[in-house]
Amino acid sequence: MANVLRLVKMLLSLPRRRVNGVASLLTGWWLVRLLWRLKALVAATLVVVFAYSTWGWVGLILVAVVPPLASLTWRAVHPQSHGWFVNRLLARHRLRHLYRARWDAVMVACNLHRPLPGGDHLTPRLVTVSLASVGDVLHVRLLDGQAPADFTRQADELAHAFGVPDVRVVAAGPGRVELVLVERDVLAEPVILDDVPAVTDLRRVRFAIGEDGRWRTRDYANIAAEVGGGVPGSGKTAGETSLACGLIQNPAVQYVVIDGKGGEDWSWITPRAAAYCAEDENLEAVLAVVEQVHGLMRHRLKTQKRERGGANFWNLPLDPAHPAVFVVVDEVQTFTDPKGMDNDTKQLAFQITARLSALVKKGRSAGIITRLLTQKPTSDALPTAIRDNASVRTAWRVVTDDAAEAILGPVVRRSDITPVDIGEEMRGVAVVANAAGRLERVRFPYVDEHTAEAIATRVADLRRELTDFGTPTTDAGEGASGETAGVKA
Ligand SMILES: Nc1ncnc2c1ncn2[C@@H]1O[C@H](COP(=O)(O)OP(=O)(O)O)[C@@H](O)[C@H]1O
Ligand SMILES: [Mg+2]
Repeated sequence: MANVLRLVKMLLSLPRRRVNGVASLLTGWWLVRLLWRLKALVAATLVVVFAYSTWGWVGLILVAVVPPLASLTWRAVHPQSHGWFVNRLLARHRLRHLYRARWDAVMVACNLHRPLPGGDHLTPRLVTVSLASVGDVLHVRLLDGQAPADFTRQADELAHAFGVPDVRVVAAGPGRVELVLVERDVLAEPVILDDVPAVTDLRRVRFAIGEDGRWRTRDYANIAAEVGGGVPGSGKTAGETSLACGLIQNPAVQYVVIDGKGGEDWSWITPRAAAYCAEDENLEAVLAVVEQVHGLMRHRLKTQKRERGGANFWNLPLDPAHPAVFVVVDEVQTFTDPKGMDNDTKQLAFQITARLSALVKKGRSAGIITRLLTQKPTSDALPTAIRDNASVRTAWRVVTDDAAEAILGPVVRRSDITPVDIGEEMRGVAVVANAAGRLERVRFPYVDEHTAEAIATRVADLRRELTDFGTPTTDAGEGASGETAGVKA
């Protein structure tokens, strides 16, 4: 037996070119090669023949019924591993029969090869293929001296050669590049969630889906503030809601919501919010909540090092007794844009803006994350002192380049990707800067308000009063109790 195996091994390892023509015919080498090529078919035939010869017709029925049944059972018991396995099989099949077969010709046609003396040439190596929701991803090892930019330049030619609408080139580490063959726009369809997983790690918070169909995450440690803008109905509140649904399930997170629209958009969070204020006209009530958070920030900044052993909140363990506080101010221009306000209201607006500005500038090391949403991201509605200190920006659909720049900064003028291009029907799609500082389109998931309310009610016992976390220091006489009329704390 061992000798037979050795012989077969030797035959298979014979270089093909040495045994060809008459030699191949005489030695039967052509037959070995043919069988090797059709190995899947040969193996299947052997199984069928074996089953029939051993068990007769019952064997054949077993062969036809058992594999699909096993696959269905596997899928029902553990869909993730089943999906992974099927995708791997499919990816291998496409690698061998679709892409490898054409790879050399495409590389030469797109001028990504390197000619060698004597008429031969080298091409980058197609290592493997994986399947993503956007389309197939080809993992390529570059030739020495090549860079991902060489592929980016040829992206149009590659798309035509592979017969797909678009090819995206992603640098995947030294000497490696990924070609994403975009077959469908992942962001075209809404992503509706029936439930949201709890956020357990604030350094990796899933917030939206990128164009490759993968989740994008943000590190909320060490972020002081975020500004989001977009025209009414573009998906700002819905985006923020889906994010909140994951965060409120973490016991070490408390939420403060101030809704400048004055409606019911955020009423779902009432059972879980440390403070919730939907006053768009009673600015005193809004100021009371903002003062309370500001008081907590000052308290932490003054006592944190002495009491907890560290001046930076994010260097200390996250603990429900010392929660991270997310402060959401929706339609913030209601409180910061003084146009059309009487003098008393202007005074209050001025104080609210000053407090928000302080939270944005100093909240980071106190574990306070301020999130401002607005349909009017211009400097009269959102002071630059606030906007420029917000390190994370999200632009849902806007209609002018100025509005896009107001949210995302000058980078948007140099980028092909702009929130002005987002169609009106693409609610929930936004442009954000990724970790490398480049702009990209993402889609926020959608959680309807009943689902959100069910989540908030489920985790209502995690809610705490802000006053539970040490005594907030307040400035002379400005009420910080949160018990002001209109504040549902
Ligand atoms: N991510 C999303 N996916 C699907 N639909 C969305 C999404 N975001 C918003 N919408 C739709 O758009 C409507 C308006 O969204 P909303 O967040 O209230 O807008 P904004 O706060 O910008 O005024 C929602 O009621 C919903 O029907
Ligand atoms: Mg809104």
